[in-house]
Amino acid sequence: MSESGRSHPTRSGGHTQSLCVHGAAELLRPPADGLPYLRHDRAGQLRLDPAPVAIVDDRIAGFERDDAAVRIDATGCAVIPGLVDCHTHLPFAGWRAEEYELKVTGVAYEEIARRGGGIASSARAFATAADEDVLAQARGVAAEMLAHGTTAFEGKTGYGLSAAAEKRAVRLGRELGADRVTGLFAHAVPEGFDADAWMDEVDALASECEVDALDIYVESVAFANEHLERLGAIAAREGVALRAHVEQFNANRSVPVALTAGARSVDHLACLHPDDVAPLAGAECAAVLLPGAELMSDEHTPPARELADAGAICALATDCNPGTSPIVSLPLIVGLAVRRYGWTALEALLACTLNAAWVLDLSGELGSLEVGKRADLVVLDEPVAHVPYRFGRNPVCVVVRAGEVAWVRPDAAWRVSA
Ligand code: NIG
Ligand code: FE
Repeated sequence: MSESGRSHPTRSGGHTQSLCVHGAAELLRPPADGLPYLRHDRAGQLRLDPAPVAIVDDRIAGFERDDAAVRIDATGCAVIPGLVDCHTHLPFAGWRAEEYELKVTGVAYEEIARRGGGIASSARAFATAADEDVLAQARGVAAEMLAHGTTAFEGKTGYGLSAAAEKRAVRLGRELGADRVTGLFAHAVPEGFDADAWMDEVDALASECEVDALDIYVESVAFANEHLERLGAIAAREGVALRAHVEQFNANRSVPVALTAGARSVDHLACLHPDDVAPLAGAECAAVLLPGAELMSDEHTPPARELADAGAICALATDCNPGTSPIVSLPLIVGLAVRRYGWTALEALLACTLNAAWVLDLSGELGSLEVGKRADLVVLDEPVAHVPYRFGRNPVCVVVRAGEVAWVRPDAAWRVSA
């Protein structure tokens, strides 16, 4: 369909639903259509020209104003793609505020884990919570994420710590409606196992469970590089993406191992070794940076400016979890990334739109405003440059997901007319 002179397609036997977003001062679009991702040295090529968006059914139909049934007045606003949160730990049970206080008063994450806190304590909460309670909490979190502009998110298992509980986590992740469910079966070593023995269970879980990716936590209190290598072989056998939590608290030199294993992403990277920047930036593997976890856990700062300049595929996510990052807001993550990494607003937004969608193998469908893609977009009541600058403020006033108005901030109700 061309961008001009388009006609409304009609669903056979049905009627079309059309929507138009007009008046925006800025519309965030990629430099070209069809890009699976945009390496960060090209982030400056993103465009912010004003233009309306026309939507038919659940698809973007063009960039011209029309007389759609539903109109969204975006005067004075910026319109950006729906945000994609490519790394969360939903679903989980309860929170761990008491640990946060220990942490800020000086007790290390590894020490909290050794005392039976951390992942083990969330596993106990998950084991005792009923399905409907886990889902109710997770749906509440997902609703908060939507109100902050997130229209697609990944969730992980990892708070099961037994084969049966990990299978339950996969099932609950699907029931929650996560756009991708990742089997983080190798999150912590369950009692009664050593890491090698638990990897045998991970191997079996990977073949029994329907997951979209496999993930592992490589750290002194969890798994080692040899287990990452083994998970790479398991992921290849299962035909799913390999992801890895690496270099969060210590430099373990896991990135070269992950790249050799064909990882789709390496996540955290606060302690990334300088020698690993160039190989990562040259690889078709995303650097998923999690500045919320960095702040809340007082981690180091990854060499994010260097990664961007070297042309890495950078992504940003909340890492939403009850331990290291109880954060739901990608606009807040954008603000943190800009300040901590020395990134522009466009670099940060690229990292939680198109590149985040690529991490989830969804960038053919989501992550940028292009004709034919799913109509997921966010209306911000301020220019893009204000998102990091007015730090902590939620600028999201209307969210459209799959062509439907999914969230309207009460004070912005006047913008939507049918
Ligand atoms: O991404 N680092 C490992 N996993 C999580 C934290 C899990 C937890 O503490 O509950 C993370 O930071
Ligand atoms: Fe994580």
